[in-house]
Amino acid sequence: MTQDEMKKAAAQAALEYVESGMVVGIGTGSTANHFIDLLSSMKGKIDGTVASSIASEERLKSHGIPVMDLNDAGQLSLYVDGADESDKHLNLIKGGGGALTREKIVAGASEKFICIADDSKLVDVMGKFPLPVEVIPMARSYIAREIVKMGGQPQLREGFTTDNGNIILDVHGLEIFEPVKMEDEFNRLPGVVTVGLFARRPADVLILGATEGVKVID
Ligand code: A5P
Repeated sequence: MTQDEMKKAAAQAALEYVESGMVVGIGTGSTANHFIDLLSSMKGKIDGTVASSIASEERLKSHGIPVMDLNDAGQLSLYVDGADESDKHLNLIKGGGGALTREKIVAGASEKFICIADDSKLVDVMGKFPLPVEVIPMARSYIAREIVKMGGQPQLREGFTTDNGNIILDVHGLEIFEPVKMEDEFNRLPGVVTVGLFARRPADVLILGATEGVKVID
């Protein structure tokens, strides 16, 4: 099985959590794209979706799947999204695709967060994948200096602007032993919009595609 086939297998397994009448939050990235494609089979049954990025919104619409504004949707039953890394407690690093802020909002507004990934994303200690931080442009240098004090090496994601008009600093060299504490430390810095650590709102279910089949951790 290729990595992409594993992602698709995880997305297929997540479809079983979708019920008629639900409004489903939709993540961003290649694994979420598989989920969107598979969700088109539920088109007439679900009430709609809320997208976490312009890219996902466009893909949903290309399938004729209705997309709602989160302000009109109220609380969502389900949020389905990929991740860049997960630990065994289902704390996540997200934001490799740069959609972390809207992803965190939609995840926060959802009753259940199903994370879908291939099994290479499950790690003992998170941090090998550079931690994305969305930052207001004028705070770039200040936040970069603060990150160095925290022991990280920030790198500007060149040529990239988020859907919210901000920049991303990818932080290398972290070993994340205390994810909640680290998420709070980033959130305290003025100018940080969102850190891609999902520890205060981890996933509820992790579905991993693997060569031997699909594994579910909850
Ligand atoms: C998007 O901003 C990210 O949070 C993605 O969920 C994450 O990068 C996983 O992407 P893939 O599904 O493409 O691996």
